[in-house]
Amino acid sequence: MINGTTRLFGIIGNPVTHSLSPVMHNAAFAALGLNAVYLPMQPKDPEEGYRGLRALGFVGVSITVPFKVAIIPLLDHIDPVADKIGAVNTLLFHEDAQGATLCTGYNTDWIGSNHALETEIDLAGSTVLILGAGGAARAVGFGLVQAGATILVHNRTESKGRRLAGQLDATCITAKELVDVRADVLINTTSVGMAPDHQALPIDAKLLAHFSVVMDIVYAPLQTALLRAAEACGCRTVDGTQMLLHQGAAQCTLWTGCEAPLAVMRHALLKELSSRDISPATGT
Ligand code: ATR
Repeated sequence: MINGTTRLFGIIGNPVTHSLSPVMHNAAFAALGLNAVYLPMQPKDPEEGYRGLRALGFVGVSITVPFKVAIIPLLDHIDPVADKIGAVNTLLFHEDAQGATLCTGYNTDWIGSNHALETEIDLAGSTVLILGAGGAARAVGFGLVQAGATILVHNRTESKGRRLAGQLDATCITAKELVDVRADVLINTTSVGMAPDHQALPIDAKLLAHFSVVMDIVYAPLQTALLRAAEACGCRTVDGTQMLLHQGAAQCTLWTGCEAPLAVMRHALLKELSSRDISPATGT
């Protein structure tokens, strides 16, 4: 029931029509018995959108593509890991001692990928190969640094792979070297395998036996060609909804102070995904 004391949350991005975050967070608020609502919003300009959220008294907001970097100069504070990643996916509005509104930016994508992987493996001391070197790879990579993993990076464009590897204190793996890599975990952070090109693989299927756990961040389709091939090789797999779920759970806890109702959020996500056609899906 929305009334005068309903607390406001939401997501800004462009587009946000395909976002799964509203169903996930509204299900969480209902399960927690909170008088709160989470809305999708698509401002043309991140600065105007941010000022609107601040003026209207929003409590917490998710930031998705293409505003994760552009939002940073507008914030009062940034969490140190989000600062290193160079991207913010979560805002928390709060009051200072004088009652003025302040906003801190966080990144929960790295928490989401760590928690998703930790359902299958202890990351401390593990060796992890990241495929890709874009924004998602940065968040996953800095998460792995926090967790104490040894990191390898392979990217189609080698120069970008080398740059990210340098920032993560990781090893860049060239296309030639890929065949000799053995690691505990493989993570696909590229869009390869996303519908409509859902048969595409980001790595030769013959190499998948070199890994114990394979995680894909693509979640449309849910069972990507990579995860199917990995299962056929005997690998344990982590699908793309897991990172989405756990980054959302971290947001929920940050905003409400409550333990996130993971099972409810997962159910809402899967129900929403299954009600949709397979469609291009990125971000949150
Ligand atoms: P995001 O923020 O979602 O990570 P991005 O910053 O555009 O998106 O990065 C996309 C990543 O997927 C890049 O590493 C990209 O490789 P390049 O640096 O060579 O462009 C990778 N990628 C996208 N399509 C790919 C493909 N068909 N094969 C291999 N890598 C691909």
